[in-house]
Amino acid sequence: MLGLSACGGGGGDTAGGQPSGGKQQVEVFSWWTGPGEADGLQAMRQIFEQQNPGQTFFDAAVAGGSGDKAKALLASKLQADTPPDTFQGHAGAELQGYIKAGDLEELNFLYDELKLQDVFPSQLIEQISVDGKIYSVPVNIHRSNVLWFNPAVLKEAGVAGAPKSIEEFLTALEKVKATGKIPLSIGSEWTAVHLLESVLLGSLGTDAYNALFLPGADWNSAGVTKALEDFKKIMSYAGDPQDDWQPAAKQVADGEAAFNVMGDWAYGYFHNPPEGGLGKTSKTDFDWAPSPGTEGTYLWLSDSFTLPKGAKNRDGAVAWLKVAASKEGQDAFNPKKGSIPARKDADQALYTDYLADALKDWSADKLAGSIQHGVAVNQPWLAEINTQVGLFLGTQDVAALQKGLADAAAANAQ
Ligand code: GAL
Repeated sequence: MLGLSACGGGGGDTAGGQPSGGKQQVEVFSWWTGPGEADGLQAMRQIFEQQNPGQTFFDAAVAGGSGDKAKALLASKLQADTPPDTFQGHAGAELQGYIKAGDLEELNFLYDELKLQDVFPSQLIEQISVDGKIYSVPVNIHRSNVLWFNPAVLKEAGVAGAPKSIEEFLTALEKVKATGKIPLSIGSEWTAVHLLESVLLGSLGTDAYNALFLPGADWNSAGVTKALEDFKKIMSYAGDPQDDWQPAAKQVADGEAAFNVMGDWAYGYFHNPPEGGLGKTSKTDFDWAPSPGTEGTYLWLSDSFTLPKGAKNRDGAVAWLKVAASKEGQDAFNPKKGSIPARKDADQALYTDYLADALKDWSADKLAGSIQHGVAVNQPWLAEINTQVGLFLGTQDVAALQKGLADAAAANAQ
């Protein structure tokens, strides 16, 4: 834990509301440091700084996709009652954990002042509320179940288009293997859990997937066994694990690999101009489809910002939340981040290409909650799932994985 440090991307000399040149610092904690990720944050930061000349943005982002490292450091800060002024937390079970631990101030005053109840979807507000009290400001909706692919690599392998089922996916992976290209790129360990949630959804179907998170769920079913066997087969086509999601996604955009299953933050990375992104050409260097077997379902997650109890610079944090909640903030952030806005009244013209598809699907699809990104399971449960998948990657023992997942559900489901 001691080795984890904030990247402090140019915010000032000291963190946490200390005066810096007569200004107050607002410490914004996230894990958006990497290529693609940071672009959206910087876009929102600019608006914040324009609107709040008395405040300095202190970037306390901690590197590491999916926030595993950031969340570990955050837990120690919360434990020590030294929270950042505002931190990123996923809507759903993850946020509920912070609420139940008493870490967060409720934000109904802000929702009333800015009339936010009407601008966010009501199901999303439910995921960030307890007993009518609302505890965060959602900035976006991300999609987890996206299959990114390289059209030229598929063509070379004789694969006609994006596979629509797990069976078609396995056939396509085998064809790519025969060409010598990497069939499926993979990143650090969490990206395997990210893949697993798409495979569970694609193999089980939406209703059975969603039922896994209800009280009394049956993780020992034959359906889950089949899904885990599918996962094992799919993983047998994975290339060497890359350091994080970006280098794995890049293998697809560079034509070294055929497929990668990753959230739509990959779109920001592929599409944003060099410096932040790869500046690749949509539909030529990369293309997308719902992950196999999941068409018609949006495996969703939402990044939101909070007001921790005891924030040193509470006014600065509230000013940040106002930008995060605003149409202007969301429309600056999301086209760069590769997500669609949480607000329903955003400027649709800004969401083109992949993001136009995402907006359309979000309004039409069924919903399922992401495991790895905080919607469906709380943090202790997710930690156990990560441990079990990590063990499985070594043992390849499907029965042991299923038992581990069933035990994790029994111990943590509420
Ligand atoms: C998710 C987060 C996304 C993106 C991704 C990769 O957990 O919600 O915004 O940052 O991790 O790091």
